[in-house]
Amino acid sequence: MRTHYCGELNRQHIGQSIVLCGWVHRRRDHGGVIFIDLRDRTGISQVVVDPDTPIAFKTAESIRNEFVLKVACQVRARPEGTINPNIPTGEVEMLASEIEILNPSLAPPFMLDDEHLSEIVRLEHRYLDLRRPIMQKNLMLRYKVAKHLRDHLDAAGFIEVETPMLTRSTPEGARDYLVPSRVHHGMFYALPQSPQLFKQLLMVAGFDRYFQIVKCFRDEDLRADRQPEFTQVDIETSFLDENQIMGIVEDMIRKTFKEVQGIDLPNPFPRLAYHEAMNKYGSDKPDLRITLELTELTDVMKDVAFKVFASAANLEGGRVAALRIPGGAALTRGEIDAYTEFVKVHGAKGLAYIKVNDASQLNETGLQSPIVKNIHVNALKAIIERTGATNGDLLFFGADKAKVVNEALGALRAKIGHEKGHLDGRAWAPLWVTDFPMFEYDEQENRWVALHHPFTSPKDGHEDWLATNPGACLSKAYDLVLNGWEIGGGSVRIHRQEVQSKVFAALGITPQEAQQKFGFLLEALQYGAPPHGGLALGLDRLVALMAGAESIRDVIAFPKTQRAQCLMTHAPNTVDEQQLRELHIRIRQHNA
Ligand code: AMO
Ligand code: AMP
Repeated sequence: MRTHYCGELNRQHIGQSIVLCGWVHRRRDHGGVIFIDLRDRTGISQVVVDPDTPIAFKTAESIRNEFVLKVACQVRARPEGTINPNIPTGEVEMLASEIEILNPSLAPPFMLDDEHLSEIVRLEHRYLDLRRPIMQKNLMLRYKVAKHLRDHLDAAGFIEVETPMLTRSTPEGARDYLVPSRVHHGMFYALPQSPQLFKQLLMVAGFDRYFQIVKCFRDEDLRADRQPEFTQVDIETSFLDENQIMGIVEDMIRKTFKEVQGIDLPNPFPRLAYHEAMNKYGSDKPDLRITLELTELTDVMKDVAFKVFASAANLEGGRVAALRIPGGAALTRGEIDAYTEFVKVHGAKGLAYIKVNDASQLNETGLQSPIVKNIHVNALKAIIERTGATNGDLLFFGADKAKVVNEALGALRAKIGHEKGHLDGRAWAPLWVTDFPMFEYDEQENRWVALHHPFTSPKDGHEDWLATNPGACLSKAYDLVLNGWEIGGGSVRIHRQEVQSKVFAALGITPQEAQQKFGFLLEALQYGAPPHGGLALGLDRLVALMAGAESIRDVIAFPKTQRAQCLMTHAPNTVDEQQLRELHIRIRQHNA
């Protein structure tokens, strides 16, 4: 049908007779001459229809946006003064000789080049939204990145193996999506939260280097960087330690950024231990481009008169920390109130602050704040010295359980860092976070839970604490962070059955329960399981960052909303009574 794509035409084609196929991006009637911007996935060409070609002209008069056309035309130079330097085809235009309407279109529900489209409208007509050049670009980038990663892994001796989608629950910390069995009354498959156990079993099977670009399913609260189904680049290797695995992965990421986007990432990626990340940034995925840091003050607040600080400082697992904002004394009352509301959403009870008017005066004149009179001078001295605060700065404080302080000040650090431009100017800040604790205490459930997943190996020498002091046990887990997003996570695994059993015990899983849920794994570990480990990258997040997108929804062809719905197909939806009966399922009323 066509001889060329719309986006590839330039001066070299002048004089050629060609045929284009595409969509009408815009049609303009210029008194006597009609201009059609014809679009396909490569770009836009300007077609000119002259009244001298009366049949084509008549057709052109009837066409509207998003009609599908086939246009026979001749390439010519644009007249002086009409060159469009903003598009690659801007030096030429196509003089139409014949126009065929291959299919008309209803008037689209939105203008494709409207920059303020509501996401709801876009998702309802995703196939139109995907026609927008930015979305075409994003999905092409996604394809390129995936292909690059696949080629890289292939060259490094990894082989792709598919693992089942209809499976049993794998604990990655989210709820499962369940699929009812028709054949087995009352039984359910779970869609995989990740291929974790299968990839470990492939190592037991001797495949040595596995990868898979694979869909994973997690029923969890959704955000800009979370979807109920998402894609992992899942990797597992045998006989390598954590440094070797991290080395392979960061090498792959560096090459992908370089070869796909021409971006140089640092070599090596910096590393930070979990406890240091929490202490300095209040987060295990800090954006290191932000220059603000937290300062530890717990030890000096134990005997101050300000109750909020003293009680947090004396609490087991409590923390008092400050966040210094250089120049922050200029913040308005309204801004401080808004930040206080912000930290409350993140679980904090308040947000004490000190405006540093004169750091040499450790009193209410030099340090402007309602709390200063209740903090003795030694503590004030420590605050100023440790934070390095100078005149014109503002200090925010968090005092609570360490988890609450970190969550609140960590989020505040990111918010103020971006809003007030406390940035170091780098475009890309990759980081490995290492030395994670094995377990975290779940206050609600009153038990230890795995911070990564229960198949992660303790650090050498920490195994003995599994039974006696689980909280002190560190693991061989590592997360890859880029600009404050967790883009990958992995670990060296437990490859000995007795260690796996000890970890299950520490998690409060009884031997019977372990046997019932993970008997196949415990058994496999006894048939010569090699030392092994790996990692999974979140492909959606990686591509969203590379594309400069704000949400991973912008790099997924057909994503779901925050409420896990597809606005186009209206999934999830009801099913026939007959289907339910076959599945032995009866729907109960919500309140029953
Ligand atoms: P983890 O749970 O850390 O590890 O997941 C790996 C990576 O997947 C991405 N990710 C998500 N992306 C979009 N939406 C989601 N809901 C979502 N959840 C996770 C993140 C994350 O870093 N089996 C282990 C890996 C291993 O140990 O090898 C696992 O799944 O970028
Ligand atoms: P109050 O004594 O409750 O009036 O609080 C005095 C200041 O301390 C106010 O600015 C509060 O926002 C702040 N504040 C209260 N609780 C906390 C907390 N847990 N951490 C940090 N600041 C707090």
